[in-house]
Amino acid sequence: MHKVSVLFVCLGNICRSPTAHAVFQSMVDAEGLGGHIMVDSAGTGDWHIGHAPDKRTSAAAAERGYQMHHLRARLVEPQDFEQFDYIVAMDHENLSNLKAMIPPNYQGWLGLFLDYSCDPQYSDQQVVPDPYYGGEQGFTFVLDLVEDASAGLLRQIKANL
Ligand code: 4NP
Repeated sequence: MHKVSVLFVCLGNICRSPTAHAVFQSMVDAEGLGGHIMVDSAGTGDWHIGHAPDKRTSAAAAERGYQMHHLRARLVEPQDFEQFDYIVAMDHENLSNLKAMIPPNYQGWLGLFLDYSCDPQYSDQQVVPDPYYGGEQGFTFVLDLVEDASAGLLRQIKANL
């Protein structure tokens, strides 16, 4: 059976996309869909390859019960376009980096994560903002946005399973 595969992409793969990876995986597991949906994350920048998520990211996630210490940063690779059904960008810069790599025959969905946002309080928010150079509340806001859009994305995937 074909598993639906989802790749979350940000810049460094140490803040936003590992958060999405851990949150979405936890929702998939909670619904018993681990056998149907495969989740991964990657970055378009190479500064943190092999690194664990940023400590501020893992601390904020742990406060909500998400574990991500097992994740390690990696770069997006050309083969990802062969493997992943959904390639989900956190912001416009990530999306344009991905569009520069996309093969003409890519059959999957490539777009912004917050296209799947459901909560009207975030209706003006198009992107998951980069929290790296900001304060702690930026990491909490990433989690708020990621939890909301993950629920929307999972609903969409379940409707097509
Ligand atoms: P991320 O955040 O893209 O959400 O992982 C960043 C992490 C590192 C850097 C930028 C953004 N950096 O410039 O090193």
